[in-house]
Amino acid sequence: MPLDIVIGTQWGDEGKGRIVDLLAAQADLVARYNGGDNAGHTVNVGGHTFRLHLIPSGIIHPHTIGILGNGMVINPATLVQEIENLKAAGVSITPERLRISFAAHLITPAHRALDQAQEQARGSGQIGTTGRGIGPAYTDKAARHGLRMEDLLDLDTFREKLEHHVATINTWLMRIYEADPLDVQAVVREYTHYATQLQPYIADVGMELHQALRLGKQVLAEGAQGTLLDLDLGTYPYVTSSTPTAAGALLGLGLGIVPVRAVIGVTKAFQTRVGAGPFPTEVFGKTAERLRGTGKNPWDEFGTTTGRPRRVGWLDGVLLRYAVRVNGVTELMITKMDILSGLPTLRLCIAYRYNGHTLQDLPLGPAHLEPFEPVYEELPGWMEDVTTVRRWDDLPAAARAYVRRIEELCGVPVRRVSVGPERSQVVEVTP
Ligand code: GDP
Ligand code: IMO
Ligand code: MG
Repeated sequence: MPLDIVIGTQWGDEGKGRIVDLLAAQADLVARYNGGDNAGHTVNVGGHTFRLHLIPSGIIHPHTIGILGNGMVINPATLVQEIENLKAAGVSITPERLRISFAAHLITPAHRALDQAQEQARGSGQIGTTGRGIGPAYTDKAARHGLRMEDLLDLDTFREKLEHHVATINTWLMRIYEADPLDVQAVVREYTHYATQLQPYIADVGMELHQALRLGKQVLAEGAQGTLLDLDLGTYPYVTSSTPTAAGALLGLGLGIVPVRAVIGVTKAFQTRVGAGPFPTEVFGKTAERLRGTGKNPWDEFGTTTGRPRRVGWLDGVLLRYAVRVNGVTELMITKMDILSGLPTLRLCIAYRYNGHTLQDLPLGPAHLEPFEPVYEELPGWMEDVTTVRRWDDLPAAARAYVRRIEELCGVPVRRVSVGPERSQVVEVTP
């Protein structure tokens, strides 16, 4: 019963969508297990760009079934729009192909308004959330008064619950944040409409995944966000409110402790972050502009979901080794090797300096990174354009040496590197 899990090893946007699309060629079911429409996963196939926020990236292949797991928080407005966009692009979306957990939580306009009001109130301590209502929806879940997908199945009760939910948050918005209240009946009308559209997709996906695995089918779990944004294991409090790490897949899909064949850690060849929080290897000035790009190319470092410029820096090997450990990563995939072409020297953080000591690992995890200074190793870069390379031996020697050094630092093999955003722009690493 092969279950593979794809996770981001950094602060998100590592290129998980494109690798899930690649691996989905061999998968029967592809399942998202955490987060919501804070995620933006890009897949490029044959010149067509798909930007997915909720539906698993594997859905582009016609043979797969897409699953939205119980660990997710779902904004039905985004989901209905995404279904329409995919259909318009020729991707078949039917209740046979798309299955949504009855236990996934709903995001409402009240959650979004509260997220934005809370961010404003944080002032200089802002997290830099995507404003999509993620934190408030997970807060409601933990407080045991959230709305779940299954609530959409009984419209009379749902309307009552929704009215109460919006009215309660309206009180907070007005009394605590001095923000405008929402029109309760407008939200109820809008959500009644979504309910009728989404009802046919709601299912016990945990049971379906369990049965699929028993039949020997291949399941690919797609993480959103990244290890360093994990609520427990990330750079708290500058994190998201879910569990993007690999363990989140078992809980967020309702699978229990089942064998996992591979945990595939996706790593960008350098480091990026969108939103606030510590970032030891961050760079500024010319190098930053070079790594980020101008925004002209679709893959330049500007958020898929919010359009914000991403902060950029050199690859942090200490944090990568941490991610390998806390996820149980069995193999790495390095994306965006093409972006490093033309840089004469690369820097790779191999340790930190703290209080006059050199540390290979963080003493207390990544939450308090501010006082740690990166210790860099310099490696020669390469000048060649690598975007047309498809064989490992055809990559410049310096590019191969960079990959080998990352393997050495992390103790796990790098199985693939990507050299461009298209599905075909991938090089299998040979031993
Ligand atoms: P995700 O959130 O991890 O799925 O990543 P995003 O889709 O948010 O961001 C990754 C961006 O980089 C997307 O625009 C991808 O099309 C692009 N991308 C992925 N791999 C490569 C690569 O190897 N080279 C280049 N140039 N772009 C890539
Ligand atoms: P994908 O799946 C990058 C960041 C936000 C913010 C923090 C909390 O595309 O990799 P939230 O709205 O979740 O409460 O914001 O998390 N963040 C992401 N950064 N990629 C993502 O998703 C992200 N999802 C959330 O920028 O710093
Ligand atoms: Mg993204």
